[in-house]
Amino acid sequence: FLFVSAVEVKIEVVIPEKERSKEEMSPNGKASPLIYKVNGTARHYHLEEHPIASNPYHNPKDVVEASVCHVKDLENGQMREVDLGCGKALLIKESGEFHAVGHKCPHYGAPLVKGVLSKGRIRCPWHGACFNISTGDIEDFPGLDSLPRFQVKIEKEKVYIRASKQALQTQRRTKMMAKCISLSNYNLSSTNVLIIGAGAAGLVCAETLRQEGFSDRIVMCTMDRHLPYDRPKLSKSMDSHPEQITLRPKEFFRTYDIEVLTEMHVAAVDIKNKTAVFKDGFKMEYNKLLIATGNTPKALSCKGKEVENVFNIRTPEDANRVVKLATSKNVVIVGASFLGMEVAAYLAERAHSVSLVELEEVPFKKFFGERVGRAVMKV
Ligand SMILES: Cc1cc2nc3c(=O)[nH]c(=O)nc-3n(C[C@H](O)[C@H](O)[C@H](O)COP(=O)(O)OP(=O)(O)OC[C@H]3O[C@@H](n4cnc5c(N)ncnc54)[C@H](O)[C@@H]3O)c2cc1C
Ligand code: FES
Repeated sequence: FLFVSAVEVKIEVVIPEKERSKEEMSPNGKASPLIYKVNGTARHYHLEEHPIASNPYHNPKDVVEASVCHVKDLENGQMREVDLGCGKALLIKESGEFHAVGHKCPHYGAPLVKGVLSKGRIRCPWHGACFNISTGDIEDFPGLDSLPRFQVKIEKEKVYIRASKQALQTQRRTKMMAKCISLSNYNLSSTNVLIIGAGAAGLVCAETLRQEGFSDRIVMCTMDRHLPYDRPKLSKSMDSHPEQITLRPKEFFRTYDIEVLTEMHVAAVDIKNKTAVFKDGFKMEYNKLLIATGNTPKALSCKGKEVENVFNIRTPEDANRVVKLATSKNVVIVGASFLGMEVAAYLAERAHSVSLVELEEVPFKKFFGERVGRAVMKV
């Protein structure tokens, strides 16, 4: 559904100068951001409107060019990591054409050369993020950023790559985004888009709106004390501070005018009057609402669940507290699937003992079957 109404949309998108050079437009213009117009229609930018964006190679000092292989070195459907001296790129050949993009997945840094290449896309070998090989754009999650794309040319049967040194170092590209242009009409208790939930889903929605050129107010709210963070890390790196696992730094939210209200619990939504009512009585009117409140842990229903020192892990505070209390103690983990196993692995060296309790005969039976489960038990 559309997030904009004909009345409230603004005419232009403001792109910070420094951000323009980050983005390489897709050659066909299809993936380029939209400008919303007063009549509610939208159109794509044209390259000539943002000449800097069309040429990220304007300063020769910031650029490296190197011959990386012979045209016959790669068959169709093959990928190869190539070194340009100040960083690596991933060279890909598909349907007779060469493409070059970043070689590391911007999510957790997996080597994309080990991923799957198919029909113009690479799928990351670790968690399945998907990238377009022509544009480097991320097309499937997890992860937020895209890959840098590099220029490829063929001369005398040799393949050359021309790349920005900075992009070779960072191996990631944040898509170009709009900012809010209606902050002068600031009204604390009213927003165009309200997103309840500041997890990955809420954040991706806010970012996608800005990438599409949406330039009105966006407010996200969360019961958490923190800006959006990478929740899956809580069971893998349990004593992380919230700042170490944020999905985006504070400045990002400031730059793109994405407001995050922390420790705000929505108690009710009055759909008729388009108003969210918070637990402390504060009310916020919205034009469009997204509910991205995630899930809640399945609590124990057995007797004794209310005794002290029984925890679910959902926030950094929960995870930090479990590590602190478990150190040198006997720990019992209920559930021997992925999260239970991860927590057990993390606590194994810290706790006095770790026991896993599982309904099934072997762990992971539902996902991988009995044989794998038995093998895991021997580890
Ligand atoms: C310990 C742990 C480890 C995990 N590991 C993995 C993994 O390895 N791989 C994987 O794929 N998934 C993993 N997950 C699952 C993954 O974290 C979730 O699928 C993901 O966080 C869902 O994102 P979300 O944005 O939908 O919701 P959430 O991340 O749950 O965010 C929900 C947001 O809504 C807010 N909210 C809820 N109710 C209200 C309200 N009434 N008012 C205001 N705000 C509200 C919350 O405060 C929060 O900000 C793990 C989860 C946990 C807890
Ligand atoms: S490292 Fe690529 S999807 Fe996670």
